[in-house]
Amino acid sequence: MRILTALQPSGILHIGNLFGAIEPMVKLQIFGNENLLFIVDYHAITVPQDPAELRRNILFAAATYLAIGIDPKKTILFQQSRISEHTELAWILNCLVHMGELERMTQYKDKARGKGEAVSVGLFDYPILMAADILLYDTNVVPVGEDQKQHVELARDLAQRFNKTFGETFVIPRPEIRKEGARIMGLDDPDKKMSKSASSEKNYLSLMDDETTVLKKIKSAVTDSGSTITFDKTRAGLANLLTIYSLVTGKTTDQLVNEYEGKGYGDFKIGLAGTVSSYLAPIQEKINNSLEDESKLLSILDQGAARAKAIAEKKMADVRKKIGVTLS
Ligand code: TYM
Repeated sequence: MRILTALQPSGILHIGNLFGAIEPMVKLQIFGNENLLFIVDYHAITVPQDPAELRRNILFAAATYLAIGIDPKKTILFQQSRISEHTELAWILNCLVHMGELERMTQYKDKARGKGEAVSVGLFDYPILMAADILLYDTNVVPVGEDQKQHVELARDLAQRFNKTFGETFVIPRPEIRKEGARIMGLDDPDKKMSKSASSEKNYLSLMDDETTVLKKIKSAVTDSGSTITFDKTRAGLANLLTIYSLVTGKTTDQLVNEYEGKGYGDFKIGLAGTVSSYLAPIQEKINNSLEDESKLLSILDQGAARAKAIAEKKMADVRKKIGVTLS
């Protein structure tokens, strides 16, 4: 079973990224699976990036995955831009996709909203590079958060279209979206997903937030005018906090509701903040240690790139042959 996911090196990884994508990958590192996890730096440049910062963020992303439990022996960990076959396949898929299909992508619509014509072609084409990322490796399963489901479905459609046009070539991938944690909502606006591009830092819990910041953000998290702790999806803010609490402790939301019976929001938020900070502290320490040994990080990424390249080269040779551009 080949399992693959990828994240943008945006500098801020929040707990939504952690529970939506990275942690499921850590859990899937079991015998019989071949896992790939990569840093999509070419997706990141669909919006302007400072080059020095981008380099730092790529290393930070790699350090974070290792800190959370990605084992480079079990998971091929690499940087997307090192494997030129991703952009090569994206071009070929571009020629199979229709403009209307990309115009329907909700993430594009969200990101392009209000920008008029000042939107990069890269941002529009982003789902095709993502389809190439997935199809290049004959991926069976793609663990992602809810917001990426539509993109994985487009990759499925394109795999089927290519196979129908040129003969069996690609495995048809499927998204795997966990039940809890697939859509962590913004702390300041529980009707929208937690997002690193949110206008306020109070929207997300970054993996690098210190104890004081975590407490401040959770204390100011939007709840409602109720006073008891219950798990009810219509109480979106509280339900989101309970989901986060459940993910960091491994307890069910029912257990947590029982623990907080007779207590109010104040106690609940202080309890949650303490738990989140204790959860993050060892991760932060490992990230910092890992960043101090840059040569080790570079070597892990080099080895990952070599392993990914071997798979990607073989697949692209087949794709070129299928579409008729290989002459001998
Ligand atoms: P990105 O970098 O925006 O997000 C990385 C992963 O985190 C998940 N996620 C969330 N999960 C739960 N709650 C949230 N609030 C939340 N916010 C983000 C995302 O669903 C994602 O799984 N296009 C992708 C990266 C990508 C990719 C791929 C993923 C490129 N190529 C191939 C899988 C396979 C993206 O921008 O994710």
